[in-house]
Amino acid sequence: MNADKVRIFRAPGRVNLIGEHTDYNDGFVMPAALDFSTWVKVSPLEERKLKIFSENYGDEFEVDLDDPNLSARRRWSDYPVGVAVELEKAGHRLRGARLQIRGEVPIGSGLSSSAAMEVATACALVANSELEVDRRELALLCQRAENEFVGARVGIMDQFVSLFGQEQKALLLDCRSLEFRLLPLPDNVRLIICNTMVKHALASSAYNERRAQCEAGVKHLAKVLPNVTALRDVTIERLEAHASGLDDVVYRRCRHVITENARVLSAGEALERGDLERFGELMAESHRSLRDDYEVSSEELDLMVEIAQKIDGVYGARMTGGGFGGCTVNLVADTHVNEFKQRVSEEYERITTLKPEIYICTAANGAEEIF
Ligand code: GLA
Repeated sequence: MNADKVRIFRAPGRVNLIGEHTDYNDGFVMPAALDFSTWVKVSPLEERKLKIFSENYGDEFEVDLDDPNLSARRRWSDYPVGVAVELEKAGHRLRGARLQIRGEVPIGSGLSSSAAMEVATACALVANSELEVDRRELALLCQRAENEFVGARVGIMDQFVSLFGQEQKALLLDCRSLEFRLLPLPDNVRLIICNTMVKHALASSAYNERRAQCEAGVKHLAKVLPNVTALRDVTIERLEAHASGLDDVVYRRCRHVITENARVLSAGEALERGDLERFGELMAESHRSLRDDYEVSSEELDLMVEIAQKIDGVYGARMTGGGFGGCTVNLVADTHVNEFKQRVSEEYERITTLKPEIYICTAANGAEEIF
């Protein structure tokens, strides 16, 4: 392969169908990769530097790969730089590169624009350096870039599906073993994403707080139950039996995670037998649990879900992603797409005065090189 030619890589954002806040509890998730992507154009440089240009921000950033003091600066470049730092730390020696990045995943809306940027950059840097890195390792390295370099304690879901997603398929992932199954989505339904256009400022601190509450739950339960290293290892019966001594908030956080894991597995079975009614009920239960037990929904998300649930042809509706604003995901019969779009837009705008963005999506392939 000619290493000196310009190459282009694409990595998608994602929507999560069910399994929220379970990934960092070693649990189950069911996302799909979206037909919204981030593109990275890469070409080699003589010096061991990265010259990174973001088309979205109209901004260039340069780093020296041999600088031992690279650290986050709370800007877009933290994601690509973090990926380079983690690749190097894992022993993958990088060649200098010029990178040009263009993203079309709506930023800050819970559709994983950051994971798309990380994964597209990782693929570009690896290819530009003529390295071979296994896709599972790449997903873990991108997650580490976000955990260690950027400082957000995210789970593995977003980076994993951005690499392993497949057209017209949902991906049922076991976040402990990283084993997964691709489940076909029926042809006669659409994934419709509704953007509330609201993002609450507390999102990242509240996310880390939820993780700490789950860890507190595990610490308590591990004292009384054998072989518990994550909430994944606890059944609802056992949680109920050992609830005394657990702080009420921590108890409800644990209840969400444990019941959500069970819902993902049931949703997988429902999808396999084509039972969209059941799948939709599980989405509704997931939303209620996120709203009441995990407390990561928002007024706007609740309203968007309530509006959707009243419309004919809607199998299921729930918030998707980390929460505190962002988007809802809706499973809608293809015969009712236009009615859905119109009614959600009108009612949401009438009540909130905000104009929602509505994306009619299909599940897409994971990261790839574009020619
Ligand atoms: C964010 C994180 C994911 C996951 C979700 C909640 O998207 O990046 O790892 O934890 O929140 O399910």
